Amino acid sequence: MINSSRLLLSRLRGGDYAHAGDREATHIVLKQALSFDSSLKNKAALDVGCGFGGTAQDLYDAGFTHVHGIDLDPAAILYAQNKYPALNFTVADGFYVDKKYPLSHFSFVSLFNVMYAIQDTAMLLKKLSAISQPKGILVIFDYTCEKSSPAPFLTDLADKPMYPLHREILQEELKQARWDVLDIIDMTSDYIRWYRELLKKLSTSSFLFEQEFSAQDVSKVRKTFTMLLSHLEQGIWGGAAIYARNQNDWES
Ligand SMILES: C[S@@+](CC[C@H](N)C(=O)[O-])C[C@H]1O[C@@H](n2cnc3c(N)ncnc32)[C@H](O)[C@@H]1O
Repeated sequence: MINSSRLLLSRLRGGDYAHAGDREATHIVLKQALSFDSSLKNKAALDVGCGFGGTAQDLYDAGFTHVHGIDLDPAAILYAQNKYPALNFTVADGFYVDKKYPLSHFSFVSLFNVMYAIQDTAMLLKKLSAISQPKGILVIFDYTCEKSSPAPFLTDLADKPMYPLHREILQEELKQARWDVLDIIDMTSDYIRWYRELLKKLSTSSFLFEQEFSAQDVSKVRKTFTMLLSHLEQGIWGGAAIYARNQNDWES
C-alpha cells in the first residue's frame, strides 16, 4: 500500500519527490554533476531509491536518454511506472544491483535522501561501484553530521531510523569502494530554507490537505519536518551533495 504521508509530502512539494528541495535541489545537483562530464547524458543513468519517480523524470528532462529507477517499495514503483511510462522502474534493493544489472553499466548513479536509511553504506557503495562505468559519476544528496557529534535518533515518514552520513567516514568508504571524491557541497542553509518553506505551506494549507489525507498524516509530516528543521538549525545535522568519480579501470 502506498505510504500516504509520503504521498502527502509529494503533494505539498508539488511533484513526485520525497527529498529536500524538490525540483530545485535536483536541478542544482544535476547541473553540478554535468559540469564534471556532460557526455554522461548519452549513457545509462540509475536513480537508487527513486520513490515516486520525480527525480528520475528530472534526469530525463535534463537530457539523460536511458533512465532507470529502483526502489524497495513496490507501491512507489507501481506509481512511478504508471506516471512515467517512458522510464524504466523496477522493484529492487540497492544491495543487489550487481545481480540485476551488468557490471560497468551506468555512467551516472544518484541517491537523493536514500543513504540516510542505509546502515551498511560501505557495502552499498561497493555494489554501486561495480555497476558503474569507469569514470562514471556518483551523486549522494543527503543529511550529514560531523564524526564527533553523536547522532540523535530520528525516524522518517516510513517510521525507519535515520542515519545521517558522517562526512569523514563516508569519504573513507568512498575511497575503499573505488570512488574518487570530486566535491562536497554543503547545502545546510538550503535545507533550512526548504524545510521552513515546507512547514509554512503545510500550516497555511492544512485544511486543504486534511480533506484528502488523514489528520494523522498531516500531523506526522509536520512533526517529522519540525524535528528535522530543529536538528538543522541547531547544527546537529547538515545537508550536503557529494560528487565522486568511479576509479575502476576495467574496460566497459
Ligand atoms: C526519502 S525517500 C526518497 C525517494 C526519492 N529518492 C526522492 O527523492 O523522491 C527514500 C527512498 O529510499 C528507498 N530505499 C531505502 N533503502 C533502499 C534500498 N536498500 N534499496 C532501494 N531503495 C531503498 C525507500 O523505499 C524510499 O522510497
